[in-house]
Parts: sequence; C-alpha cells; structure tokens
Amino acid sequence: MKILVVGSGGREHVIVWKAAQSPRVDKIYCAPGNAGIAELAECVDIKAMEFDRLAAFAKEKEIDLTIVGMDDPLVGGIVDVFEAQGLRVFGPRKNAAILEGSKAFSKDLMKKYGIPTAAYETFDDPKAAEAYLETAKYPIVLKADGLALGKGVLICQTKEEAFAGVREIMEDRKFGAAGDRMVVEEFLTGREVSVLSFVDGKTIKTMASAQDHKRAKDGDQGLNTGGMGNFSPTPFYTEEIDAFCRKYVFQPTVDAMAAEGRPFKGVIFFGLILTEDGPRVLEYNARFGDPEAQVVLPRMENDLIDVCEACIDGTLDRIDLHFLEDACVCVVLASDGYPVSYEKGFPIRGMENFRGKEGYYLFHAGSAFNERGEVVTNGGRVLGVTALGKDLREARANAYKAVDWVDFDNKYYRHDIGKAIDEAD
Ligand code: AMP
Ligand code: GLY
Repeated sequence: MKILVVGSGGREHVIVWKAAQSPRVDKIYCAPGNAGIAELAECVDIKAMEFDRLAAFAKEKEIDLTIVGMDDPLVGGIVDVFEAQGLRVFGPRKNAAILEGSKAFSKDLMKKYGIPTAAYETFDDPKAAEAYLETAKYPIVLKADGLALGKGVLICQTKEEAFAGVREIMEDRKFGAAGDRMVVEEFLTGREVSVLSFVDGKTIKTMASAQDHKRAKDGDQGLNTGGMGNFSPTPFYTEEIDAFCRKYVFQPTVDAMAAEGRPFKGVIFFGLILTEDGPRVLEYNARFGDPEAQVVLPRMENDLIDVCEACIDGTLDRIDLHFLEDACVCVVLASDGYPVSYEKGFPIRGMENFRGKEGYYLFHAGSAFNERGEVVTNGGRVLGVTALGKDLREARANAYKAVDWVDFDNKYYRHDIGKAIDEAD
C-alpha cells in the first residue's frame, strides 16, 4: 500500500513510524513532514491546507490511504475534498470535525444528550457576555468558540479579568474569527486526563489513557502550550472512571453525532477532568493528541492501517485493540521562549544516539534541513524524547536519561513530566 500522512509535527512523525511497521505498507509520503519524518517517508512540499494540491498528489501517486493528523485541515473539510474525488482518507468529515472546531457546538451537543460537562452559556455579543459576567461566580472560564491553537481559553479570577478577556476575544479579536462567539463556562477543579479513541461512525474503541502537561514551566507554571510532555497510562484513570465514561461519555458522544446526522469517523480525543462529582468533558478533539499520540501509539500492538481502514469501512466492531503492559513517557524538548517567541535554525546534535536503542524514540516536532543539509530546530516544540519502561517510573527514568542524548542551542524542557506518578501511590 501507499500511504500519505498530512501534517508536520511529532504526532505525524509517530503516525508515520507506526504506519511503517505495517507489513501492508510499501511506501509512505508525508506532506509537508519534517527532517525526522524524512527518514521514514518521502516528504512532499505541499501544505496541509492546500486540499486540491494534496488530492491531486494522492491521485497522481495512486495513494491507497491518506491519514490526516492535524486539526486545521480536518475542521476545514479536507476529508470531504478527498472523498469527493474517490480517495480513501482517515478522519472526520467537516460536519463531524466541528466537534473540535466549535466549542459552542460541542457544549450544545453535550447539553442536548446529557453528557457530563461544565455548565456554560454561549454569547455572540460582547455586551450580553459582560452583563452575564457582572453577577457570575468566580473564577470563571472564557473560551473562544473556534480553533485557537490551544490558546483561546482564559481562566479569570475576577470580574475585571473577565471583562478584559471579553475584549481580547470578541473585540480585539486576538484569536481572529475564533472569537465570533464565546463560551463562558463554570470553573472545574480536578486532575486532567486524555482518552483517545477510534470511531467508525457507530462503534468506538478507546486507546490507553494518557496525561498531558500543558503549562510551559515546571510545577504547572507559565503559559499554556500545545503540551510539554506526557505519560501513558495514567494511574488516575481507574477502572471505575473508565466504566463511568463508557456509559455516560464515549458511546453517548458517538451516538449523539450519528443522531445529528454527523457520523464521526476517525479519532475522538476526550479531554476529561476528574472532579469530586465525577468525570466531566473539558473538550473534544477530532484527531490524535500531540504529544498524546507519541505515548499511546508506541504501546499499541495493532496494525494502525488495519484500524484506520476499519474506521472508514464501519467494521471497527471486528477489531480488538491491544496495548503493551509497558508504560511510555514523552518529554518535549522545546526552544527556550516557547510558546511566545523563540529563535530557530540551530543544529540538532546527537540524534544518532537513538539508533538501535529498543524502546527509545526520538519523534521530531519542529525540525528542518538547512542549506548545508544539517538537521536544525524549526519550531517551538522541537523533539519528543520518548521511552518505554516496565512501569511508569522506569519509563520516566528512561525518557529523562535519553533527554541528554540530544542537544541544540536554546534547548528547554520541563523536569517534572510524570511527577504526578509519585502521588498515585
Ligand atoms: P480546552 O482547550 O478546552 O481543553 O482548555 C484548555 C485548558 O484550560 C484545559 O486543559 C484546562 O486546563 C483549562 N480549562 C478548560 N476548561 C476549564 C474549566 N471549565 N475549568 C477549569 N479549567 C478549564
Ligand atoms: N496535547 C493536547 C492536544 O493535542 O490538543
């Protein structure tokens, strides 16, 4: 088979790596890819939002299956463009990717179908939002409706902060059109866990749980980022919580989408918060998480291509997902200054130290070749140093050992990825 993967981050690197293990796969292309992906796939210089060019490429190369990693093209309707041309593609159509693309849509869906989530109100007029915030309970959470690179969520401690937030989102349009509408939501407290799942329109099969570290700095300080590292499984996602989510969250979400005439095929990522009153959905994503994929896919024993095809064909009920007992930890090496501003273009040294080391992986998130052909840093998140271990502690020790194997100027990482493991005893 010939496979095309769309995207250029660490998530797409692990998708390419996993696809490459399938005996059914002969050749992988990645658009646009990065310097790490280039070791396993032929990178094609087409951007993820150039749907027509991507579809033309898939036709010309007779691609058998395209896997879309990123949210922007999914929400923008890349799957519809591919399907209209008779191309096989893994991911939700535009009318289903709205589950991630509009927070107002997903909140309304959860309310209508009784899926547990934070209480909320939706506003498309800043004056009405302010009137509501005048007498609201604090802290409170403001969310731009649309995609905002994970930055459109503001947690406000006071009325003054909330009014400033309304200005940022709806008047100054800091997140662009994502701020046409805003969700104002009850502030919840609890541990956050991620559950990724495969969905074929009616059947859902969940993958192993994971726990992200969204803040830039140690001790969960600093700004929100795309994710600075994570681990799988998380001990806080117990069997009891899993049973609750199966009954009240996972299948109900899939059934709700089908009932709305928006059958979801692809990956649903459930962002859950474990409150004292039980699990609540914080957000849905319509794709693999990044870096959740980096800790979940190395543990998955199934052939990724088989599972993707079952989602497309509506035969996921015939697949049993299997995961290694081994735990996995990913530590993101970023450029100092991420997520605000940072320099790039620095040579990456030591990548060869990962060669032949079983259970250690170096997934590239932001890397490129410079004019001399050297691999250089090319983003805020640069590398995902990932390691397996017989349990979480061993995986964490292995990942932090391997962090020292690679180096680049401006290298920055959190030292406490997986620290929560110690609190689980
Ligand atoms: P989201 O993009 O909706 O996942 O929000 C990003 C982050 O903001 C989450 O991972 C939480 O840490 C935080 N957050 C979002 N909604 C809430 C809420 N209702 N209560 C507390 N924290 C929240
Ligand atoms: N790591 C969070 C996300 O992919 O949205």
